[in-house]
Amino acid sequence: MPSLRRLPVVVVLVVLAGVNAHGFRFEEASIDAIRLGFRNGSLTSTALVIFYLDRIARLNPLLRAVIEVNPDALRQAARADAERRRSISYGRRSLNTGNGKGGGLLHGVPVLLKDNIATRDALNTTAGSLALLGSVVRRDAGVVRRLRLAGAVVLGKANMDEWANFRSLQGSGGWSARGGQGKNPYVLSASPCGSSTGSAIAAAANMAAVALGTETDGSILCPASLNSVVGIKPTVGLTSRAGVVPITPRQDTVGPIGRTVADAVHVLDTIVGYDDRDAAATMAASRYIPNGGYTQFLKTDGLRGKRIGVPNGFFSYPNGSVQHMVYQQHLDTMRKQGAILIENLDIENLSVILDPLNNGQQVALAAEFKLSLNAYLSDLSYSPVRSLAEIIAFNNAHPVEEKLEEIGQLIFLVAENTTGIGAPERAAIDGLKELSADGLEKLMRERELDAVVTPNAAASAVLAVGGMPGITVPAGYGDMGVPFGVCFGGLRGYEPRLIEIAYAFEQVTKVRKAPTFMP
Ligand SMILES: *[C@@H]1O[C@H](CO)[C@@H](O)[C@H](O)[C@H]1NC(C)=O
Ligand SMILES: *[C@@H]1O[C@H](CO)[C@@H](O)[C@H](O)[C@H]1NC(C)=O
Ligand SMILES: *[C@@H]1O[C@H](CO)[C@@H](O)[C@H](O)[C@H]1NC(C)=O
Ligand SMILES: *[C@@H]1O[C@H](CO)[C@@H](O)[C@H](O)[C@H]1NC(C)=O
Ligand SMILES: *[C@@H]1O[C@H](CO)[C@@H](O)[C@H](O)[C@H]1NC(C)=O
Repeated sequence: MPSLRRLPVVVVLVVLAGVNAHGFRFEEASIDAIRLGFRNGSLTSTALVIFYLDRIARLNPLLRAVIEVNPDALRQAARADAERRRSISYGRRSLNTGNGKGGGLLHGVPVLLKDNIATRDALNTTAGSLALLGSVVRRDAGVVRRLRLAGAVVLGKANMDEWANFRSLQGSGGWSARGGQGKNPYVLSASPCGSSTGSAIAAAANMAAVALGTETDGSILCPASLNSVVGIKPTVGLTSRAGVVPITPRQDTVGPIGRTVADAVHVLDTIVGYDDRDAAATMAASRYIPNGGYTQFLKTDGLRGKRIGVPNGFFSYPNGSVQHMVYQQHLDTMRKQGAILIENLDIENLSVILDPLNNGQQVALAAEFKLSLNAYLSDLSYSPVRSLAEIIAFNNAHPVEEKLEEIGQLIFLVAENTTGIGAPERAAIDGLKELSADGLEKLMRERELDAVVTPNAAASAVLAVGGMPGITVPAGYGDMGVPFGVCFGGLRGYEPRLIEIAYAFEQVTKVRKAPTFMP
């Protein structure tokens, strides 16, 4: 961790107090506030990075949200500050260091990356596993290249469910060998969920401005919901998966996690787009990217006229429970804001779609995982392990550090037994496509829905099988104070209307509160 000792004492003290001498408030600072602070001279990127590094130093021993901080973060911040000073003295209104699309939008803004997103710098990329420690990637992940073009500061790597929860059926519950046990900052004994565990915890506990997570089935939507932050799971292919430790190109997607819808949307604007190294998917999805980007959909009247479906089978909370009451209130609020709620909808074969062990998902994923992980490993310029088989052997050789007895590695073993995409896998993949086409896709078209609303990540599998997007927004706090969220999902490319709905909902409800504990 970079030392704070070299900085003037007065700067450090002022920053640690949470509000600086120019009135800039660090806690809960939004990207818009940060950008304004940069412009009006009340904030520097250096001061912001110091604030987050200090939060990480103090909170991480308890929360385990971060695996590594970037030893280069302060230098990147100083460079951003110097660039800003220079551009102000040249009288330019904004920095144009970007790619032309949202360019410079995150200039000087510290971003934390899930540990399965590759960076070619001093940071390791390990998906939380000791097996990949010391591996060297050839280049930044596609999304990281875009973040750097937009001027973002790479703050570090976030903890995660090891191997994005694809090592064993019971999952690792927010644990990785490298990062330890991630904790929910609202209720330490509650699940933080995963697999983008640290990304969500860090955003919630103000340990970063924003973070990136990844999702195959629920890995952004679930931790964002349970840690009271906003998560966007983009349409598959909207964001490049190149340089991301994979599970399956059919479902994997990279998305932002932040404290507000606007923050997440600013990051989305920065990371979407075509990438040569993930050409087919990013080309296919690039037609969904609106001219002018996504920020234009942050409309306070975004619920007006929206047709929102409430599918059966999700809001099954007992009468009188906090969740039951709060979700009913939220549905009423949506109506009052002009949305048309269509209740009592059935998603065909819902129980089949929600059963990954029996609907073909596990058959497809096991084979796809082995193929794509081995491809990722073979592209590394150095790695102590070069195949799934070698990772299995590594875990066998390090049973204590890798908690082999508690967590096991059954999915790895099943995946290692696969031999590519044969007839059974092809049939499983076609079956999943059909379930999605006849399920949510048909329902949304027939009923002309803009979105469906569901709790937390309950519908993540429905979205996953169709490569469809979802956004989760803080919805409330349960009996013990454990957060829960509300998720708006839609067809591929529906990000604009989902953002309108999510933003309007957030602005009228303003549910999120920062966690109040102080160790
Ligand atoms: C500068 O902007 C920040 C918000 O980002 C605000 O808190 C602060 O008061 C502003 N300062 C001045 C001098 O306008
Ligand atoms: C990356 O891992 C190596 C051990 O292989 C370690 O020495 C180094 O400090 C790690 N990088 C960071 C930024 O923590
Ligand atoms: C909950 O309340 C509704 C309407 O008030 C009622 O129809 C339903 O049976 C109740 N469910 C339970 C489990 O009590
Ligand atoms: C889906 O539902 C239809 C109609 O209920 C049924 O005929 C079909 O077998 C189901 N598909 C699967 C994969 O279970
Ligand atoms: C893998 O295949 C071998 C040989 O067919 C079999 O004995 C073993 O049980 C399989 N392992 C798993 C986890 O499916």
